[in-house]
Amino acid sequence: MKQTIDFLKMKEMKEKITMITAYDYPSAKLVEQAGIDCILVGDSLGMVVLGYESTIQVTLNDMIHHAKAVRRGAANTFVVVDMPFATYHLSKDETLRNAARIMQEGGANAVKVEGADDVLETISQLTKAGIPVVGHLGLTPQSVGVLGGYKVQGKSVEAARKLIADAKKCEEAGAFMLVVECIPYQLTAELTKQLKIPVIGIGAGNHADGQVLVYHDAIGYGVDRLPKFVKPYANIQTEIINGIKNYATEVKNGTFPDEQTSYTLKEEVLAGLYG
Ligand code: KIV
Ligand code: NA
Repeated sequence: MKQTIDFLKMKEMKEKITMITAYDYPSAKLVEQAGIDCILVGDSLGMVVLGYESTIQVTLNDMIHHAKAVRRGAANTFVVVDMPFATYHLSKDETLRNAARIMQEGGANAVKVEGADDVLETISQLTKAGIPVVGHLGLTPQSVGVLGGYKVQGKSVEAARKLIADAKKCEEAGAFMLVVECIPYQLTAELTKQLKIPVIGIGAGNHADGQVLVYHDAIGYGVDRLPKFVKPYANIQTEIINGIKNYATEVKNGTFPDEQTSYTLKEEVLAGLYG
């Protein structure tokens, strides 16, 4: 399994880092088989697997429950788990306790937290406690109410400057990796250049040290609408619907199960039974 230091080395060697989300045993197993560098158990699970409107409803127990399943499916892949909404903003003690549960019960290798400002202290405290931390800047979905919607971030001179400053502060606070979401690619290029830690982009252009996508978006699994920045690499939902339709048709017309898919009694048993 990769360690935090390996991601730093990959950046130095200019080897792109691949990251994708996974939320359960089968998705984690397939992602590991595909040879991805790093799995993210994102709180996007609230939307893509639990059907919530946003990530706000996701609880610490939800994250731990899903992280456990991911760990069972991908024993040899570095797993980052999101700390969900309002689980790292109250007290230092509570933040540490919550992160420790994600590590110990969820089997995470690192946690991810959104934002800078007050969160910088958190990044520093968790890192000092031995918990590797991934930062997350740009569009931070847990603050969507304050940001005023899911929009591209860092578009003004002021916002771009703040983003660059925040990213440096995340690095100084001890983050070993930074996710940037929905920002113009020129800004990502600047961040990638200025930071020593790897910058992982989503909707952030081609200059990042690595990329992350949501599993369900990337393979077209139960999602109707894709953001501009997602490239659909597969469309498994069509495959799934067709498979299930064929199953239903064959049950209705009596062609399934057939002899091949049925168990049978031996002739002598049948004879003994009815003879
Ligand atoms: O929850 C998530 O999937 C994420 C990625 C979009 C970075 O945080
Ligand atoms: Na997230």
